Amino acid sequence: MDQLALVVTRIRSLNPWVRELVLRAADGATLPGFTAGAHIRVQVEAAGASDWRDYSLIDTKDGEDGSPSSYRIAVRRDDTGRGGSRYMHEQVQEGDVVQVQTPKNDFPLHDHAGAAVLLAGGIGVTPLVSMAARLRAQARPLRMHYAVRDTESLAYQDELSALLGDDLQMHVDQHAGGPLDVAAILSRCAAHEQVYVCGPKPMLDAVLARAAQLGWPPERVHFELFAPPVVQQGDQVFEVELAQSGQRFEVPTDRSILDVLIDAGCDPMFDCKRGECGVCALPVIEGEVDHRDYVLTASERAAGNVMQICVSRAKGRRLVLDL
Ligand code: FES
Repeated sequence: MDQLALVVTRIRSLNPWVRELVLRAADGATLPGFTAGAHIRVQVEAAGASDWRDYSLIDTKDGEDGSPSSYRIAVRRDDTGRGGSRYMHEQVQEGDVVQVQTPKNDFPLHDHAGAAVLLAGGIGVTPLVSMAARLRAQARPLRMHYAVRDTESLAYQDELSALLGDDLQMHVDQHAGGPLDVAAILSRCAAHEQVYVCGPKPMLDAVLARAAQLGWPPERVHFELFAPPVVQQGDQVFEVELAQSGQRFEVPTDRSILDVLIDAGCDPMFDCKRGECGVCALPVIEGEVDHRDYVLTASERAAGNVMQICVSRAKGRRLVLDL
């Protein structure tokens, strides 16, 4: 993956929690192009170490056919997170140079008959803004539902309204008395329509559960999770043993197996760190797995001999992995 040193040329607050940053090459050169749904990986300082965070590229004008002069990203501050968003809010200022990996797209638009139905939750709106612009530019049918907890959390509403008009449906939990009814939205989808969802885990889980209930093939739902793994009630500390070296590590409730191995100087494969890409899969030799990924099939989960170490945990006190 190529790396770029880009200057932060503009910062603005979109709401009390979201900061938008525009990045450009110092010499004004054009940047590598990207397609709707793509992200860049930005180097941050978190927990006293250098790390990378993924941010979707926002394009309200469909610049897909050219080489962009800038990248636009939006960062939601998460004070309970690992520190990357705090760094982007507190440390990065206009004029600073940040290290960025060239764009990558794990959440692309697909060619299909029927409308694209875009479901955005909170800051998950960012890749869908680019998708909406692209679909409009291609004159493809789309509908977009954009859900936020309260009106203070809105971002890009004006741009989306101007772009989509009546094809944009807003949902504010605070006013509606509850979250967006994704089950009803999926039930109303026509046969050839496909859904693109980006938002928090409960929203994604509700969409996937409804799609399964309706008997949809998996390829009708495209998604990107917009939240790091969270500690769940009942999570406990467990031990992981690496069978090939005999090394043993304790995995605390607020760390993933992957992060524990990285901290210990191991070199496990990974990419998304959200249980979506499949790269971090490891064979399980012993122990029962609490699967939390979006990659493995039901039968792979039931077999229990492979796990995604970035999100999944042990149900018991110990796991032995073939590493
Ligand atoms: S790193 Fe992508 S599934 Fe674990």
